[in-house]
Amino acid sequence: MSNFLRLFHPFPLKVVDGKGIYLTLEDGKEYRDLFSGLGVNLLGHNHPDIIASLSKTFPLHLSLLLEHSLKEEVASDLARITGFDKVFFSNSGTEAVEGALKFMWMWVKEKGNVKNRIISFKNSFHGRTLGSMTVSGLLLHQGFPKLNFDTLFLPFGDEKMLTEEIEKGCDFVILEPIQGASGVRIAKLKFYKTLSILHREFAFGLIVDEIQSGLGRTGEFLASTLFGLDPDIVTIAKGLGGGLPLGAILLKEKIANAMKPGYHGTTMGGNYLSLRLSKVLIKKVQELLEHVRNLDKLLKDVLVPELLANPRVREVRQKGLFIAIELKKENADEVKDILFENGYLVNSLGKRIIRLLPPLIITFEELNDSINEINEVIKGY
Ligand SMILES: Cc1ncc(COP(=O)(O)O)c(C=O)c1O
Repeated sequence: MSNFLRLFHPFPLKVVDGKGIYLTLEDGKEYRDLFSGLGVNLLGHNHPDIIASLSKTFPLHLSLLLEHSLKEEVASDLARITGFDKVFFSNSGTEAVEGALKFMWMWVKEKGNVKNRIISFKNSFHGRTLGSMTVSGLLLHQGFPKLNFDTLFLPFGDEKMLTEEIEKGCDFVILEPIQGASGVRIAKLKFYKTLSILHREFAFGLIVDEIQSGLGRTGEFLASTLFGLDPDIVTIAKGLGGGLPLGAILLKEKIANAMKPGYHGTTMGGNYLSLRLSKVLIKKVQELLEHVRNLDKLLKDVLVPELLANPRVREVRQKGLFIAIELKKENADEVKDILFENGYLVNSLGKRIIRLLPPLIITFEELNDSINEINEVIKGY
C-alpha cells in the first residue's frame, strides 16, 4: 500500500532524467513532455543556464527579515518588464491569489463606499485554498466554505452582462485573461475592451490572474498586453521559480499603499534559491518571446488548420503555446492514453479537451511533429 495520498491520476512513469522537452525513464524510453509539469517547465528539463545557476554555493534560505540584493533584483526585473510598481513574492499560485485578494480588499476599504460585491467568471480557476476557491467558478460545486464576499459569477466573454452588473456596482473584478483549467477559453476582443473601458469609468479594482497565461506562454510576457488590459494587480507563479516554488503579486503603488507592515507575510515565499533560478528564468523568457511568436505563426498558418481539417476535431483554441484541441467525441482520455503509449505526455480536460502547455524552448520541428502525431492519433479514435 502506498502512503502517498493521490488525489489525481498520475502517468505511470518512473522518470530518471530529462533534457529539453524529453523525459527519460528507467528503461531508457523517452517521452515528449508537452504539458511541462502543469505548465511549469518553461525552459524544458535541465536547462543549462538553470543548472549553472545551481552550481555555486549560496544561502538556501534568507527570510523576509533579511535584506538581500536578489530580492530587489528580481522585483525590479519584474517591475521593469511589466510596468508595475511593487512586487510581493509567494510560494505558489494560490497564495499569490490569496495575497491579491487581501491587498485588493484593503484598497477597496481604504477607498470607501464598499459594496461587498465582486465579480468573477463561470469556469474560472484561481487556486485551491479557501480564498482563491471562493472566486473560482470551476470549484464551486465542491462544497467548501466561502469567504464573506458576495461573489457574482458571470459568463466569461459576455460584455453585455458585465456592463449591466458593473453598473449596479462592484468593488473589484478578478479574471484569467485566458481561462486555462476550463480548456483555454479566449473571449472576443470586444469583451476585454469593454472591461477596460468600464475599469477606467467606474474605477473598481482589477485583478488579472496570469498564473497560467503569463511568463511568455502566449508570446507576450503577460497576456494582459495582448488584450489591452491595465490591471491593478497581476498574479504570476508556475514557471516563475525556474522549476522551484515561487509566485508573485505585481501591484500598482495605490494598492501597495493600502497595506501596512504585518498585514501579509510568508516564511518561505521569495526564498533565495527560487529567486536565484527566477532571475535566470525571467531573462530567458524575455529572449524566448520572439520564438514563441514565431511558433504561434506556425500554429495559426499551418498546424491549427491541419487539426481543423480533421473531421474528429470540433475546435482548436490557441494563443502562442497555450493550446486546447476540442474533440467531437467524448474520448479525450482515450486519445491521451494512446499518445502516452506513443511517447507523448498531454493533458485531458473533461471528456473532450486535450490541453497542451509545451515548454517555450520547443523547436519548430518538435512542435510540428508533435501536433502531426496528435492529429494522427485523433483520426484513429
Ligand atoms: C490561473 C491559475 N490560477 C491559480 C492557480 C493555482 O496555482 P498553484 O497550483 O501554484 O497554487 C493555477 C494553477 O493551475 C492557475 O492555472
